[in-house]
Amino acid sequence: MKTILITGCSSGFGLETAKYFLARDWNVVATMRDPKQSQLEASDRLRILPLDVNDPGSIDAAVEAAGPIDALVNNAGIGLLGVFETENMAVVREIFETNTLGTMAVTRAVLPQFRERQAGVIVNVTSSVTLAPLPLLSVYTASKSAVTAFTQSLALELEQFNIRMALVEPGRSPTRFGETARKRMQQSVPEAYAGFVESVFANMGTPAGTDPVDVAEAVWRAVTDPVSPARIPAGADAIAMAQAS
Ligand SMILES: NC(=O)c1ccc[n+]([C@@H]2O[C@H](COP(=O)([O-])OP(=O)(O)OC[C@H]3O[C@@H](n4cnc5c(N)ncnc54)[C@H](OP(=O)(O)O)[C@@H]3O)[C@@H](O)[C@H]2O)c1
Repeated sequence: MKTILITGCSSGFGLETAKYFLARDWNVVATMRDPKQSQLEASDRLRILPLDVNDPGSIDAAVEAAGPIDALVNNAGIGLLGVFETENMAVVREIFETNTLGTMAVTRAVLPQFRERQAGVIVNVTSSVTLAPLPLLSVYTASKSAVTAFTQSLALELEQFNIRMALVEPGRSPTRFGETARKRMQQSVPEAYAGFVESVFANMGTPAGTDPVDVAEAVWRAVTDPVSPARIPAGADAIAMAQAS
């Protein structure tokens, strides 16, 4: 029986992906910053471990406790919407720490076992924003596009060890993500950008096109199908963006 380790399983795509793999007879190591927040039903194939992607000690402890795994999903991530000119650099760093460096750190922690066993799959969850630029998302898009570039280059270096890397690119989904991104928004919009921001928000009315299960299905395909594409858009809106780009 195969084992998958997933980051950010307290809600949204991570939670749904953990459920999806559990329902298909995989062992699941569901990691989250605070295991008390788990919404997963107990199972003898489920282990819940604490893992904060910004804390190297917690990454090492979780990977050690998990034991041999066959697949890693770097799903944990945070959002940011706002005007770049006045964005607080501490917040910019926070986005890159979690989305980009956190993904790299967890990836590095599993590589020795994958290399020794000459097997393993790493799936990095980015976003459809990497397919076409959208306004007010410059920092978030940069953090996720860096993961795309990282994944594509690293895949070439790991192919010799039979380690596969893939990207899952979800569209917009009504998870907790929007709410936590809003909390990081600036208190006020700079006057010079007010009209622009208003027009962006006025055009944001279209309903979200991605269901968390679309993401779980895309991760399943990336993990279980060795000839699946290296980039998999997840959700109707992401698929439309991928076709247009
Ligand atoms: N929802 C969307 O519209 C959308 C679209 C495209 C891509 N994405 C991407 O999809 C991924 C999952 O997002 P989601 O929509 O499922 O949002 P979500 O419901 O907010 O889930 C995000 C998860 O990441 C975890 N997380 C945040 N910081 C972490 C850290 N430092 N260490 C470990 N875990 C951390 C959160 O844990 P806590 O409970 O501890 O905060 C939560 O479990 C993210 O990478 C996001 O960028 C989302």
